[in-house]
Amino acid sequence: MLVNNMRVITGIKDMRSVSKEARMSGKTVGLVPTMGFLHEGHLSLIRAAAGECGFVAVSVFVNPTQFGEGEDLESYPRDLERDTGLAEEAGADVVFAPGVEEMYPDGAGTVVHAPPGLTGVLCGRSRPGHFTGVATVVLKLFNIVAPDRAYFGRKDAQQCAVVKRMVRDLDVPVEIKVMPVVREKDGLAMSSRNTYLSPEGRSTARAVHKALRKAEEMVCSGILSADEVKAGMYKILNKAEGLEVEYIEIVDPETMEARSDAGANALIAVAARVGGTRLIDNILVSSEQWMVSDRRRGVGNDE
Ligand code: PAJ
Repeated sequence: MLVNNMRVITGIKDMRSVSKEARMSGKTVGLVPTMGFLHEGHLSLIRAAAGECGFVAVSVFVNPTQFGEGEDLESYPRDLERDTGLAEEAGADVVFAPGVEEMYPDGAGTVVHAPPGLTGVLCGRSRPGHFTGVATVVLKLFNIVAPDRAYFGRKDAQQCAVVKRMVRDLDVPVEIKVMPVVREKDGLAMSSRNTYLSPEGRSTARAVHKALRKAEEMVCSGILSADEVKAGMYKILNKAEGLEVEYIEIVDPETMEARSDAGANALIAVAARVGGTRLIDNILVSSEQWMVSDRRRGVGNDE
């Protein structure tokens, strides 16, 4: 099927053979898994994949198994026609957009459970079962597309940790690439769910990034106690009317274990609710540069 000149594949068999064909012709296969309603964050992953791979598949599948009861599965924004146009412009070769029946013909079956230490904290605490749904669908996509490389955004840092761990534990032959957080001009991390925000909510949501900037400032000025950094962030978030903090955590980005310091390679992560909308964001303290006086160079590379 062609939508906007882009080849849209809905069947698993077709996807498998198109991907195999690309590989047989000597192309490196890249996969960008998404739930669609593409924005610049997704497009940055597609562009990165197109820059490094001869063939790029973008999956668009709102995966029901990663949504909990009462979550936004039904209202999740969808626009396949717009997505295909954007994916094509960004350099995708095909869009894989299977239906739920195609992916789960027998309903929920065999699943992938990442270790509880990774999934029972941060987002996993308030979304039980979420990362099982994510790991399972991502493994299915890996088995269908058989990519050499797969691209994920660090905006969902815990998801990246779960996927990397699954790939390692289950010997999946794919290289996981983690790309920086893409933000709106005012710092709000891009998300398909930002469309849920009311105008006031959108303005309130800026506090999340402000709190992360505060953390960056503290770390760069040499304040490395996780408790102190968190307290500085709470101060900002507690002032934001209509915003409810779900968590502020400072953890190891691979294991999600809590750290007592916010020094080199610490992941500083926030989840908050504004109205009914759940927002997450994070920064990664870079490996040695936290002591560099130029604070723009001090934290992460995506600001
Ligand atoms: P989705 O939320 O659509 O995100 C798809 C990919 O885009 C993820 O790797 C996510 O981290 C990345 N992304 C989203 N916002 C971003 C931003 N502002 N900057 C950089 N990257 C960003 O994550 C999922 O879908 C699903 O859980 C999925 C992996 C597809 C499994 O169903």
